[in-house]
Amino acid sequence: MGIGAFQCHWIKVDTSIFLLHSFIIYKDIHFISLHFTFIKIMVVHTIVNGNNLKKEGILDASIQFDATTSENWIHPRAILLTGATGLVGVYLLDELLHKTTADIYCIIRCNNPDDGKKRLITHLQTHLLWQEKYSSRIIPVMGDLSKPLLGLSTPVFQELADKIDRIYHSGAFVNFMFPYSVLKAANVLGTQEIIRLSALYRLKPLHFVSSVAVFFSQTHFDKKIVNETDIPNLDESFKGGYKQSKWVAEQLLMDAQKRGLPSAIYRPVRILGSSKTGILKLNDDSLCHLLKACIEIGKYPTLDTLMTFVPVDYVSQAIVQLSLQKKSINKAFHLTHPNPIPWKSFMNEICAFGYDLQEIPYNQWIEELKTIAATHPENKVYSFLLLFLRDSNNLLLKQMHFDSTNTMQDLKGTPISCPPTDQKLVSRYLSYFQQSGYIPKHSGS
Ligand SMILES: NC(=O)c1ccc[n+]([C@@H]2O[C@H](COP(=O)([O-])OP(=O)(O)OC[C@H]3O[C@@H](n4cnc5c(N)ncnc54)[C@H](OP(=O)(O)O)[C@@H]3O)[C@@H](O)[C@H]2O)c1
Repeated sequence: MGIGAFQCHWIKVDTSIFLLHSFIIYKDIHFISLHFTFIKIMVVHTIVNGNNLKKEGILDASIQFDATTSENWIHPRAILLTGATGLVGVYLLDELLHKTTADIYCIIRCNNPDDGKKRLITHLQTHLLWQEKYSSRIIPVMGDLSKPLLGLSTPVFQELADKIDRIYHSGAFVNFMFPYSVLKAANVLGTQEIIRLSALYRLKPLHFVSSVAVFFSQTHFDKKIVNETDIPNLDESFKGGYKQSKWVAEQLLMDAQKRGLPSAIYRPVRILGSSKTGILKLNDDSLCHLLKACIEIGKYPTLDTLMTFVPVDYVSQAIVQLSLQKKSINKAFHLTHPNPIPWKSFMNEICAFGYDLQEIPYNQWIEELKTIAATHPENKVYSFLLLFLRDSNNLLLKQMHFDSTNTMQDLKGTPISCPPTDQKLVSRYLSYFQQSGYIPKHSGS
């Protein structure tokens, strides 16, 4: 059975369970019909593009890598950044403004450059990163990753290729529901267009933000430890459009690397808010939803898992620091917590913050979650969680160790280290969750 057929089968199974959940929880025919429409889109897209992912990972042969490497790549005058309106991108932008003197050209979807600049400023302000003195170095470029030449005209694409000395590609359509065919344009073809730009006129080192999710296949689950030098293997257990699109994008980059493009791959684990502010978009993170549910239920499940997440400021600092070193070229780096704490210790920190939570067996907790989901149909977090926890491949249930020797060795001697997951960090996150109304205040506050 090919990957395409396998994916269709998965969507069929997933669809029926999703609808069942929708029905049990919402008993709302409009909600269900909305999901039918959504799922119809998913299935049609999957059948039309149920393709061989390996073939998708072959780079456009017309991209040539015979140019010389940009002279200014160590001390760049101009940097291209994608995804600056996202979580990782905005911290990369801030870090690049601090650690270099380069102008930062940001590919951004907008109506005009003024609108783009406003979006970037507002996003920096939201994360408490905005500094007026950097304004002139932030240059919006109206574009779209999902379009040929990044949505730029040929002259603008060429002008950019001539100007830029180094590239950080963090932009992606990050969505865990859509199939590969929907995400392909932005995540795969967008990466190909970024590679095209990297290769044009002068080779510009390309720093690509990928994800450890490229290893979420049975082959790697069985091995338990994933090294940075491992090549992500494709087997039939490798489900989910997002992971697949990141996998194919990595293949394109590896192909480009083999053909001469200086580049590096960064694979973060789950990223949470900054260790200084805790600020995070809270509507789509499964771990945050799990914590919210535990606090609202007043109980947490027994889980044999480690909390490997990393704060976004660590991720951006590490990527920029590593990217400044010549020895990073053509390496991959895993950005995971070097000293992850067990789930139970993490929950103890939450209790120490002021929430009185009781530990109960996992299956019992799931039953409590189902009950609260049924009595609070307006709270979509519960149904989201039920769906998420049903996936036995989710990392809260299935532990996998991402070795980060390259990252640790190459950050050694620099001031950059991952903050410990201690009371200080947990308090910062929970305080932000409380301030934004995401979780109720505890009785002592
Ligand atoms: N967050 C995590 O836990 C995590 C973990 C591992 C790896 N990663 C990787 O880290 C990178 C950044 O993730 P994130 O969490 O920062 O995602 P995010 O907050 O969703 O940001 C995604 C960024 O990509 C941009 N983008 C999406 N489609 C685009 C398009 N067609 N044209 C131009 N820009 C487009 C978005 O622009 P708009 O604002 O216009 O939508 C946004 O700036 C991704 O490559 C992701 O795979 C993230």
